[in-house]
Amino acid sequence: MTSRPYVIDEMISAKEIAARIEALCREIRKTFPSNERLVVVGLLRGSFVFIADLVRELSDRDVEVDFLEASSYGNAMESSREVRILKDLRGEIGGRNVLVVEDIVDTGYTLSHVVSLLKSRLPKRLQTIALLDKPSRREVDFRADLIGFEIPDEFVVGYGIDYAQCNRNLPFIGKVRFTE
Ligand code: IMP
Repeated sequence: MTSRPYVIDEMISAKEIAARIEALCREIRKTFPSNERLVVVGLLRGSFVFIADLVRELSDRDVEVDFLEASSYGNAMESSREVRILKDLRGEIGGRNVLVVEDIVDTGYTLSHVVSLLKSRLPKRLQTIALLDKPSRREVDFRADLIGFEIPDEFVVGYGIDYAQCNRNLPFIGKVRFTE
């Protein structure tokens, strides 16, 4: 796909993200005891950088990492609203502590669908964490248990998040501004 020309304006710096992750992990420790193994489930592909930083901050416990891929925007900027599971977990989560990690909650369709699916597998405890939340875009009644940053209705990239598969490798979160 060819995208329109754009520039990226920094919105959340790498330093701010790192500080927020430390605070989020303090909250995670309150919910999940350190003597019990935690299964950290990343939603591909946008959460891969966030999950890498989260699990290293949780080095006080045994952590398993698993991934699930749900259909997302594809190459467009609008949610399809219909959520399909493209890649399921490799491991079992029944009776286990599970932390589901998402990059952005936008309309809410993706994470609410994934949470109902995973809850049907009867985990011991399941929590959700999203790096970014755009509450003004919500179309279903859903809120992640933990949120890194609430942001306005802007299209963002970086720190794992893409526009047309680019910009995932930026260390900060930036907002896409079209120049034409
Ligand atoms: P939802 O189902 O509408 O909540 O969509 C969540 C998914 O949409 C996220 O996991 C992202 O893949 C994608 N998404 C939402 N907002 C943005 C954005 O600003 N930039 C890039 N992807 C986004």
